Amino acid sequence: MESSHTLQEVFDDSHYAGTVLAKLKRSLQLGPKYYLVDLPRYLRHRRVLNLPVWDFDVLANPLREFRARPDFVFPVPPAYDEALAQLAQAGICLTMPRNRLEALVGAWWATQGVASHVIECGSYRGATALLIAVLGRLQQTAQTVHMLDTFTGIPDTSRFDVGRRRGEFIAPDGQVAAIQAQADALQVRNRIEVHRGLFSETFDRLKERDLRFAFVHVDANIYQGTWEACQFAIPRTARGGIVVFDDYNGVCDLGARLAIDHYLAPTSVKPKPLAGSSAWIKVAARA
Ligand SMILES: C[S@@+](CC[C@H](N)C(=O)[O-])C[C@H]1O[C@@H](n2cnc3c(N)ncnc32)[C@H](O)[C@@H]1O
Repeated sequence: MESSHTLQEVFDDSHYAGTVLAKLKRSLQLGPKYYLVDLPRYLRHRRVLNLPVWDFDVLANPLREFRARPDFVFPVPPAYDEALAQLAQAGICLTMPRNRLEALVGAWWATQGVASHVIECGSYRGATALLIAVLGRLQQTAQTVHMLDTFTGIPDTSRFDVGRRRGEFIAPDGQVAAIQAQADALQVRNRIEVHRGLFSETFDRLKERDLRFAFVHVDANIYQGTWEACQFAIPRTARGGIVVFDDYNGVCDLGARLAIDHYLAPTSVKPKPLAGSSAWIKVAARA
């Protein structure tokens, strides 16, 4: 195993509140607006979408970030530390909190019996998907990791997205070429496909291929992209596959939650909390 110094370097915690004090500060900044403005609007939006209006679980969302432990523990994949060290060596930083990342790769690893591909809807700078590709190489899985993003940030938001605005998460110019160069350095170039553009455009092209997924990571933060990702990826997820929704319990992402609940409404499936804002479902049969 590499030194802890190297492993710490791979985590860039400037994108989230990393300490209890920072979390407290963030809660005080976001809490009043969340409870007094965003939640009442969210409950009205549930009515607009014909969903049961009351949703008790959202009351706890601001407290979830304080939980250091995941809500559900999947064992992390073998060689996880080695994969992190390889990312650090390639100069890649992970912007997701460590407990959420470990829960995510653990969920991916739990699908290893399912012979299908991986899709990430919302890749930003690509670090999470590259980590899964490296883990796949180390474990010799036969999987392609599909990475989808505008790479120019969040597109137009809808009336359901009260906590997000267009242009958040703009990747630096040349991000696709940078991801491809990083994939070369990590020897996973043949394990990834980068799809730049709106999900709707990419899905139109991917529809022509008979793709099936073992693992789906939906991380779009807003209603429209999350809705489109559910519509495309969930029916193509193999039995036993897992879908992780990064934003289901996010304080700023009530639009994404609406899209997921809207999509799952005709079923009895309810996402289970995973770690922090994330939640997951296991696909029992083709939807
Ligand atoms: C939080 S970021 C993803 C973070 C990434 N998964 C990670 O772990 O670093 C959300 C991304 O979703 C993308 N996105 C949202 N809606 C989209 C859409 N309709 N089409 C393409 N990309 C979209 C944004 O451009 C943004 O980069």
